[in-house]
Amino acid sequence: MKPEARIEQRRPDGSLRHLITLEDLTRQEIEALLARAQHYVREIGDRPAASERLKGVTIANLFTEPSTRTRVSFELAGRRLGAEVVNIELQLSSRAKGETMLDTIYTLQALHFDVFVIRDAEPGVLAHVAAHVAPQISVLSAGEAHLSHPTQGLLDALTVRQYKGPFEALSIAIVGDIRHSRVARSAYQVFRLLRVRELRIVAPPALMPDAKEFPGCARFQSLEDGLAGVDVVMMLRIQKERFAEAELPDGAEYFARYGLTPARLARAHPDAIVMHPQPMNRGIEIAPEVAEGPQSVIRAQVSNGVAVRMAVLESVAGWLGA
Ligand code: NCD
Repeated sequence: MKPEARIEQRRPDGSLRHLITLEDLTRQEIEALLARAQHYVREIGDRPAASERLKGVTIANLFTEPSTRTRVSFELAGRRLGAEVVNIELQLSSRAKGETMLDTIYTLQALHFDVFVIRDAEPGVLAHVAAHVAPQISVLSAGEAHLSHPTQGLLDALTVRQYKGPFEALSIAIVGDIRHSRVARSAYQVFRLLRVRELRIVAPPALMPDAKEFPGCARFQSLEDGLAGVDVVMMLRIQKERFAEAELPDGAEYFARYGLTPARLARAHPDAIVMHPQPMNRGIEIAPEVAEGPQSVIRAQVSNGVAVRMAVLESVAGWLGA
């Protein structure tokens, strides 16, 4: 895909129209989204928040990469705001993918869809679609290649704020397959914007991003050193599907050096929280007893995902609804 010139994510009146990256959002915009999301958070066991704010709005979930969690999360977010949500799984060959995707979208436009939530493995398809849709339509990323996963970044920030308080006091370590991770890139963008005190990236050399990426982060090859004293440990999944067969790390070897075990977690601050975007490779990047342990906030991340997506949907499409 030829990269599109940078896409304008706002309408002329300044309101958010698309969300493809967190890169050019302001701190105020992020804060407003987080505050709105917090308003939709409910305790497990309570009824979920619901409204009719998006009644009459039609949302398509267009996923060309497999995903259950993110798709269900967007689907529930739309439904709990009263919108109609349709899931569409597309199998597209990578040749002319942008054009084929656009054909589908033009058809859906004629059916009065208002919001397209897109997940795709190829960089640039989202911006291409956003540049060509009708003016009333919004495009939201549900994960783009290794580049961007903005709603995941927001839900991670919301989770950190809930459990650890003000960002300015925190030291956060992002650990694992950073090179292939859109979760890490969106986390980096949101945490920088929120002025986290210290951001570390921890990975073996082969999984480190290029030197010019993640400016301002301290880089660690040793997990023990990288975890020392941190408040937040953000684990990542080994992105098996983004490796050439021969380059895939051996699971047992990886766990021996980079798996988050209780002993390694003990290097972090005693109150540190452990996060993971899921799906988890238990026994490869994280020990099961840590994933299920008292410091894990992985379930809270899942709940926060729906609240964040409600906030984003409402903010791009609220004006269309009831
Ligand atoms: C992440 C993704 O797909 O980017 N998962 C998710 O959104 N639930 C992380 C991952 O796949 O490792």
